[in-house]
Amino acid sequence: MSNFNDFTFRQIEADTDIKPFDCGDPDLNGFLFDDAKKYLNEMLAVTYLLEDSQAQKTVAYYCLLNDKIELNPGEKSKWNKLNRNIPNNKRHHAYPAVKIGRLGVSKEYAHQNIGRMVLLQIKMIFSRMNLSGCRFITVDAYSQAVPFYEKCGFHSLSNKDENDTTLAMYFDLMYYKK
Ligand SMILES: CC(C)(COP(=O)(O)OP(=O)(O)OC[C@H]1O[C@@H](n2cnc3c(N)ncnc32)[C@H](O)[C@@H]1OP(=O)(O)O)[C@@H](O)C(=O)NCCC(=O)NCCS
Repeated sequence: MSNFNDFTFRQIEADTDIKPFDCGDPDLNGFLFDDAKKYLNEMLAVTYLLEDSQAQKTVAYYCLLNDKIELNPGEKSKWNKLNRNIPNNKRHHAYPAVKIGRLGVSKEYAHQNIGRMVLLQIKMIFSRMNLSGCRFITVDAYSQAVPFYEKCGFHSLSNKDENDTTLAMYFDLMYYKK
C-alpha cells in the first residue's frame, strides 16, 4: 500500500516533463499528454500532478476550472436537498463552484485510497483558501466512477439516466470549513 505523503505534488507548467501515466482510459491519458498544457495556456484549466518520490511516474492527475452550480427546474428535489444547508436569506438560483475537469489514478496505484486522498486535498484547499467564494466542488462523473465519488461524499445533481455516460455530481465544501 502506497503512502500518499511519499508522493510529490506539483502544478503543470509549460515546460513540465510529464512522466509516464496510464489510468486505463485513453481520453484521460490523452488529455494529460496532449491537452493539459494547451488548457493552461488558454487559462481554461489548471492541471496538478502527483508523482512518485523519484519523479519517474505520474501516480495521479487532476485538473480544475471555475464553475457554477445552477437550479435545473426539472430537478427541483435535488436542488432542495442541496439548498437545505444554505440559510434561507442566502439562497439563490446559482452558487460558485470549482470543477474537477479530469481525474485519473494510474492503474498501478488503483484502489490504494489515492483518489480519495486527492479529493480530500481539493476539499481542504478550497474550503480554507478563501481567495474567492467557492461553495461546491462539481464533477461530471463517468458512470463507472459514480460509486467512487459517492463514497467520497458527492451527491448527484440530476436523476441518472441509464443512457448517460456521465452524471453531474457535487460536494458541499461547508463540511470542511474550519
Ligand atoms: C475512479 C478512480 C479515480 C478511483 O481512484 P482510486 O485511487 O482507485 O480510488 P480509491 O482507492 O481512493 O477508492 C476510494 C473508495 O472508492 C471505491 N472505488 C474506487 N473506484 C471504484 C469503482 N470504479 N467502482 C466502485 N467503487 C470504487 C473504493 O473501493 C474505495 O471504497 P472503500 O473505501 O469502501 O474501499 C480511478 O480508478 C481511475 O482513475 N479510474 C479511471 C478513470 C476514471 O474513471 N476517472 C474518473 C473520471 S470522472
